[in-house]
Amino acid sequence: MIVRTPPTTASSGRGRGLLIAFEGGDGAGKSTQSRLLGQWLQEQGYAVLHTREPGGTTLGRTLRELVLHGEDGSVAPRAEALIFAADRAQHVATVVRPALERDEIVLTDRYLDSSVAYQGAARELGHEEVRDLSLWAVEGLVPDLTVLLDVSPEQGRERRGAVHDRLEREADDFHDRVRHGFRTLAADAPERYLVLDAGEGVDGLADAVRARVAGLLEARR
Ligand code: TYD
Repeated sequence: MIVRTPPTTASSGRGRGLLIAFEGGDGAGKSTQSRLLGQWLQEQGYAVLHTREPGGTTLGRTLRELVLHGEDGSVAPRAEALIFAADRAQHVATVVRPALERDEIVLTDRYLDSSVAYQGAARELGHEEVRDLSLWAVEGLVPDLTVLLDVSPEQGRERRGAVHDRLEREADDFHDRVRHGFRTLAADAPERYLVLDAGEGVDGLADAVRARVAGLLEARR
């Protein structure tokens, strides 16, 4: 007898919470912006969960070590894609969906688009293939809004400073493909993206993010 995988095994839905992802190349300033948005939302009385990929769970922290801190060439491209997808599956099932069910606002530094940009575009594993792998991992959960901090490879390199993980060490043409991957995703669904120039000042960027999120919250009322 063939036992089929049930179409959904999500342990919970998404409640009335909001999922907002911060994406961009290395050194774009995602964590600063997600922290500032989180502070502002908390001041407005919202329950906020701040998290990240890879490494937003106990399993994820082990996966993060494996995938980012090996030697160059130590992780095959498809293994890399599967590790990021596994990290995401665990993160969504045990952290993100439960928080959305509790009607919280989840802010995540990186999500599915990072896999499409880094593994799909930059590693050239294919946009659709990598997207579908992650969509399977998260049972179709896509953000309500993705804030893309667009950064050039040169600017990103400058901002990252001297310490580099395995992906940050890649050459500028890799980071150029990452950038192009993100921009293609945003251009395909502009209503779900806010694209900002990461070179703008921190305060101006934070104002733009708040204005867009305020609109989302208004629409949800
Ligand atoms: P991150 O911790 O966000 O690093 P940083 O704060 O320097 O941007 O991400 C670590 C690295 O993992 C980063 O180089 C991007 C990469 N990455 C992928 O290649 N695919 C993915 O799916 C994710 C989530 C991250």
